[in-house]
Amino acid sequence: MEPVKNKLTTASGKPYAENENSQTIGPRGPILLQDFILHEKMAHFNRERIPERVVHAKGSGAYGTLTITHDITPYTRAKIFSEIGKQTRTFLRFSTVGGEKGSADTERDPRGFALKFYTEDGNWDLVGNNTPVFFVKDPKKFGDFIHTQKRDPYTNCKSPTMMWDFWSLNPESLHQVTILMSDRGTPYGYRHMDGFGSHTFSFINKDNERFYVKFHFKTQQGIKNFTDEDAADMRGKNPDFAQHDLLTHIDNGDFPKWDLKIQVMPETEAATYHINPFDLTKVWPHGDYPLIDVGVLELNENPDNYFAHVEQAAFAPAHIVDGIGYSPDKMLQGRILSYPDAHRYRLGANYEQIPVNRCPFMVNNYQRDGQMRIDGNGGKNPNYFPNSFDNIIADQNYREPAWDVNAQVADWYDRNAEGDNDHYTQPGNLYKLMSDEAKKDLIKNIVHSMSGIDGPKKDEITNRQLCHWFRADIGLGMAIAQGLQLDLAETMSHMQG
Ligand code: HEM
Repeated sequence: MEPVKNKLTTASGKPYAENENSQTIGPRGPILLQDFILHEKMAHFNRERIPERVVHAKGSGAYGTLTITHDITPYTRAKIFSEIGKQTRTFLRFSTVGGEKGSADTERDPRGFALKFYTEDGNWDLVGNNTPVFFVKDPKKFGDFIHTQKRDPYTNCKSPTMMWDFWSLNPESLHQVTILMSDRGTPYGYRHMDGFGSHTFSFINKDNERFYVKFHFKTQQGIKNFTDEDAADMRGKNPDFAQHDLLTHIDNGDFPKWDLKIQVMPETEAATYHINPFDLTKVWPHGDYPLIDVGVLELNENPDNYFAHVEQAAFAPAHIVDGIGYSPDKMLQGRILSYPDAHRYRLGANYEQIPVNRCPFMVNNYQRDGQMRIDGNGGKNPNYFPNSFDNIIADQNYREPAWDVNAQVADWYDRNAEGDNDHYTQPGNLYKLMSDEAKKDLIKNIVHSMSGIDGPKKDEITNRQLCHWFRADIGLGMAIAQGLQLDLAETMSHMQG
């Protein structure tokens, strides 16, 4: 008989003799309660699903490398940028936003662009999108906004009425909605789109000076999008198009690459710049803050198991490293709380020990116990601080410069104060910059989507949203009104009203 090389065992290591037939009383009799192997197989299967991410549930991921090509040490002391040629291992998860884990990859949606850099000062997570702006600028609105992107509580279907109702009541969303409705809302997989850190972050240099910074990843594969029709077609043909495209290109050695660039604003300019630099619905025009080259990101390794790496990956905007800091961007502030909270619910209190999330360098603290504690739990070492036994210190060299803040507290500040209230110039400029073909596609996509507004509030919602398009660009507003076959005179009278 051939020697058995790898024995099939229970999870506790007991070799199985039989894996396909349950223990029965006679060949046709009932199954015995003592068939533990049957129980173990069934019970583990019943526990295979963990909660999917409440947003960005459908995604794809790969490992790679960030290589620094330019010196930005005058702005930051972060070790990841310390020298030209420096390489840092990275994990990148792409995603759609509104759909469930089994939804189609080519839905019209922003795409997530979430990075984890395994640096020697800890893991740095840059959890961005393929767009430089977002729909809302206060985290209190996030859950309400996302509800409009998910299923209607009664019909259990997606609802253009909910979406346009919310957007029309939140004109700050117009910039992001313009990008979403353009063909950039249906990218051709994940390799042909740019990525953005989106928020304003801080850089802190070795002299403890602060700069404000935005991160951009420019695809070397070139921008390529589906049209609305082609995206719809692909949803039927291959709902996993983007997953398949990324996986096969990396498997074939055709590694996708992005150029990392930054925009930098000296701290002193933030207070006087004519745009609120911490407003996530606005970009910093490149004419004012040009792109500065930093390095190249390459994805070159497919994870060997989807669930272990991609599904269990936990990214958090809270995870910054020395030399990189937060900013007063309200959305960023809200996200600092939200993500680790979501991870504790989705993956458990010790989610940082899962290999894809684990910092490969030093981790020392007094956190102990909890479900699924698998790293030795600190062994015999003290579990309190301060103590007289170990040599773990809070190192003052990692101090950030202090922040000046307005000392008054309120939640009724005028969010529409000067520098914050212009929701129209940037989307209007974006439209004006588009090629004729891109303009045509944008209008077609908006008309298609707004045609889905339904119910007793249809006219009210449609007219309210039309006003926003008109305010961004009169030609755009006219074209959409025509596409929706509206009576222009009546629309104008609504606008004046
Ligand atoms: C995922 C909350 C805004 C990009 C998530 C998750 C939550 C969340 C709870 C699921 C996390 C998980 O289970 O692992 C929020 C809140 C926001 C916000 C409360 C605003 C206050 C944003 C913005 C961006 C963004 C502005 C991009 C600029 C992402 C990405 C993921 C994600 C890329 C998926 C991460 C992954 O691949 O695992 N968000 N989000 N989110 N969010 Fe947000």
